[in-house]
Amino acid sequence: MAEGFEAYRAAKSAAIGGLRGTVLEIGAGRGSNFGLLHSSVTWIGCEPDRRRRVELARNAHRSGHPREPLAAAAESVPLPDGSVDAVLATVVLCSVRDQARVLAEIARLLRPGGQFVFAEHVGAPERTWKRVVQRVIAPATRIFDHGCDPARETEASLRRSPLDVVHIEHFELPALGAVTVPYIVGRAVLPEA
Ligand SMILES: C[S@@+](CC[C@H](N)C(=O)[O-])C[C@H]1O[C@@H](n2cnc3c(N)ncnc32)[C@H](O)[C@@H]1O
Repeated sequence: MAEGFEAYRAAKSAAIGGLRGTVLEIGAGRGSNFGLLHSSVTWIGCEPDRRRRVELARNAHRSGHPREPLAAAAESVPLPDGSVDAVLATVVLCSVRDQARVLAEIARLLRPGGQFVFAEHVGAPERTWKRVVQRVIAPATRIFDHGCDPARETEASLRRSPLDVVHIEHFELPALGAVTVPYIVGRAVLPEA
């Protein structure tokens, strides 16, 4: 288990910086990952929130990515099967309505052998006080923080999905005072047929 923002940022930068080809970024927000993408990447963004999408489009153009972001939720992305080399999600799987559906959609969109890179905060282990707190605050964060549920069991969802988790690192990042929040960074691959 690695600790601290520096280790997390290094793992996230390495995972995103390793992507090549056509990359679909789901829940791209305002575009905080542009600086980490390799210059050769063809970026496609999807962001359901209209106001964020406007800023995302502006930042995408400034960063040399001319394509207009898609107005879509990750549960249903208007792109053909097998049309992207990679999918990227940072702090998004906590917010989606249906993780299983999103992961199935990612599998549909990836070419065989394509990869899904993720960096996400996740639920604390069951029967810990942190997990209890996550459950208690979830109704509020769902309303006020883009649908975010801090207790999501994202790693378990990934392992149940059609993707193979090939690399995963665990982090504890400071939140409030001495309180830390668990994060994961990793890569999953769509198996070749
Ligand atoms: C915490 S923000 C992260 C933004 C960006 N990925 C980043 O790392 O800066 C979560 C984002 O997920 C988006 N989101 C919420 N539900 C979504 C869904 N079902 N499909 C795709 N994106 C979603 C929100 O609009 C928001 O932009």
